[in-house]
Amino acid sequence: MEEYPFLKACRRERTPYTPIWLMRQAGRYLKEYRALRKKHSFLEMCKNPELAAQVTLQPIEKFKLDAAIIFSDILIPLEPMGVEFEFAKGEGLVFRHPLRERKDVERLRVFDPEEEISFLMKAIRIVRKELEGRVPLIGFSGAPFTLASYVIEGGHSKNYALTKSLMYQDHPAWDALMEKLSEVLIRYVNAQIRSGVQALQMFDSWAGCLSPGDYEEYVLPYSRKVMDGVSKSVPLIHFATANSTLLELMKRAGGDVIGVDWRVDIGEAWARLAYDVAIQGNLDPVILLGPVDLIEKNLKKILARAGDRPGHIFNLGHGILPNTPPDHVAVLVDMVHEYSSRR
Ligand code: CP3
Repeated sequence: MEEYPFLKACRRERTPYTPIWLMRQAGRYLKEYRALRKKHSFLEMCKNPELAAQVTLQPIEKFKLDAAIIFSDILIPLEPMGVEFEFAKGEGLVFRHPLRERKDVERLRVFDPEEEISFLMKAIRIVRKELEGRVPLIGFSGAPFTLASYVIEGGHSKNYALTKSLMYQDHPAWDALMEKLSEVLIRYVNAQIRSGVQALQMFDSWAGCLSPGDYEEYVLPYSRKVMDGVSKSVPLIHFATANSTLLELMKRAGGDVIGVDWRVDIGEAWARLAYDVAIQGNLDPVILLGPVDLIEKNLKKILARAGDRPGHIFNLGHGILPNTPPDHVAVLVDMVHEYSSRR
């Protein structure tokens, strides 16, 4: 069988067109998703393998996307570690007992994901059966830094002051936390591979808040440890936002593909990475709000800047916005295929 274009592009092999998938492609912008969400909370949907599988497939049935991403969340491994959180009505994401000191780190559990996150592994197996011969399935995890930031801040943060304070002021506690998160993530991601995912994305969504020097000292060793610990049987995408100053360091940490957001010119980013990794990105999600000629102009620019070297995977620079018209997603996917196949 001819290999899937998405997987070939991850390996920098030539494809008939530029493959495309979108971060958060299953989600609130789809009426099919909102209909299920009326009946179930977000976490209920993540924890029910049949529902998670169904939601994963929703965008695949609607658009000619080149990969599916399993419906789950980067926060899922935190609960079995002993960190409780909820998506509370009106409040959004809240952690009732954020981690603030050394003794909180010692309480964190390392666990067997096959046992304690069996719902995700089951969802992966269901989706793989449904997708056989259609598109490959991407699994994912957060990176140690981004997960540490949620655990410490207790939710979203503007300046990551609590996270950075722990990092600067108690290096041993920081190391202990990053060590434990890395250990959990290695197990978590390898379990997803054993269950059938064909590629992985590691989201270090908030690493862009760090200076290159701090990234190198406090974060890179742990991201590298996780990626080194992951079975080499599937390609790995290493993604962060606001990462234009971190590109070379992210590559050093690992990944077959580096994911970039819209703040950087994708052509320049790839040149800085010396073209020996693949690149993913990088349309600003706001462009997808339209109009269609704006989408067309911008996707053409990205294709032109990426050039016709093999190894570009088209994506947004960050997750799709909930108010995105689904018609615009269809236009984007079809136009990326059409324009890139003409070359
Ligand atoms: O990409 C996909 O379609 C796969 C599913 C996926 C979700 N979250 C579903 C989701 C993936 C890959 C994620 C990753 C994720 N989760 C990240 C990294 C990517 C990024 O955005 O930087 C982060 C930081 C999270 C944590 C998270 N999950 C937050 C902060 C929130 C609440 C804010 C929000 O946007 O609603 C979520 C909820 C979430 N994760 C939703 C979905 C579809 C919305 C839930 C709902 O209300 O229906």
